[in-house]
Amino acid sequence: MTRAYISGLGTYVPERVVTNDELAGLMDTTDEWIRTRTGIETRRFAEPGQGPSDLAVPAAEKALEAAGITVADIDFIIFATSTPDYYAPGSGVLVQHKMGFREIGALDIRVQCCGFVYGLSIAEQYIRTGTFRHILLIGAEVQSTTINLSTAGRDISVLFGDGAGVAVISATEEDRGILSCHLHSQGEYYKEIFVELPTTTKSPRLSSEDLEDDRQWPRMNGREVFRHAVVRFPEVIQEALDANGLTIADITLIVPHQANLRISREVARRMKVAPDLVYSNIHKYGNTTAASIPLALADALDEGLIKSGDYLVLPAFGSGFTWASALIKW
Ligand code: UT7
Repeated sequence: MTRAYISGLGTYVPERVVTNDELAGLMDTTDEWIRTRTGIETRRFAEPGQGPSDLAVPAAEKALEAAGITVADIDFIIFATSTPDYYAPGSGVLVQHKMGFREIGALDIRVQCCGFVYGLSIAEQYIRTGTFRHILLIGAEVQSTTINLSTAGRDISVLFGDGAGVAVISATEEDRGILSCHLHSQGEYYKEIFVELPTTTKSPRLSSEDLEDDRQWPRMNGREVFRHAVVRFPEVIQEALDANGLTIADITLIVPHQANLRISREVARRMKVAPDLVYSNIHKYGNTTAASIPLALADALDEGLIKSGDYLVLPAFGSGFTWASALIKW
C-alpha cells in the first residue's frame, strides 16, 4: 500500500527579530501583556520587497536537500498562504519560476491557519493514488505588511510574524506517513477573523476612502476565536485518534498551529495531558499562520522530541472558521 510521508522539511525565517519592547515603542502595549496573554516573546519581520515566495525558496531548498532529491524530482507544488505575494497569480507559480521547477502544476490554497494541514490532505491524496511521487508543500507568510502596527490594531498585530516552512511529501511502501486527515469549516463565523479588503464585491476593490477609514487591516474578535479554538482543537485531535483506533496515550507529540500559548495550554488541560505534550515554539515566531506547523515540527525534530515510528497529531484552527488535523506515523 502506498502512503504519503514527509521525506524532508526545511524552514526559513527573516533575519529581523522584533521584540515585544519594539512593538511597545509603536503602540500602547507592553512586553508583560504580550507574554502573559500569548506566550510570544519575539517574531520575525520580512524586509521590504520580500514576499512569502521569497521566504519559501530557501526553506524549499533545505527541504529538498533533507529529502535527498532535486528540483527535477518534484511533480507538484502546493502553496498554503493567507498573505500571497500578489492578488493574482498565486505564490506557487512564483516558486516554480524562482527555483526553476519543470512546468509542473502549482496550486495555491488559502485556508489561513489550517493551510498546511489542508495541504497535507491534498498531497496525501495525490500520492496515495499514485498520481505523483514527490510534492512540495509550502506554508509561508508575510504578515508584517498586513497588520496595523498602531494602538488601533494592537490586539492582532502583536500576534503575527513572518516565516516559511516547507515539506517534501513523498510516496513510500513502508508502514509510516500520513494516516488520516480531517477537515472542517463553519463559514457562519467568517467575520470573526476577517481581512475584507481588497474585495471584488465593490469597485474599486480598495479605495482611498477605505484607506482613510483604516479598513484595509485585518479584524478579529479575539475572545470569540479563543472560545471556539479551545473546543475545536481537542475535538479534531480526538477525531484523528478515533479514525485510527488510537488513544491520546499513543501520541508522542501534538504539534499544533501556533495561535496562542494559552490556547495550547487549555487544549492540554481539556485533553488531560501534560502541557509539554502540546508542542510550542510560539515564543520565538508568534503566529505564522500557514507556516506555523512546519516551523514547529522542524523545531521539535531539532530538539530530538520525535523519533521514527512515533505517532503525531497536527491540529489547526483559524479564520473561516476552519479546523483540521492530520495523524502521522513518523
Ligand atoms: O490563528 C488563529 C488566530 N487568532 C487567534 O488564535 C486569537 C485567539 N484569541 C487570543 O489569542 C486572545 O483573545 C488575544 C491574545 C487576542 C487577546 O487576549 P484576551 O485575554 O482575550 O484579551 P481581551 O481581548 O479580552 O482584551 C483584554 C484587554 C482589553 O482592554 P479592556 O477592554 O479590558 O480595557 C484590550 O483592549 O486587553 C486590551 N488589549 C491589549 N492591551 C495591551 C488588547 N490587545 C492589547 C495589547 N496590549 N496588544
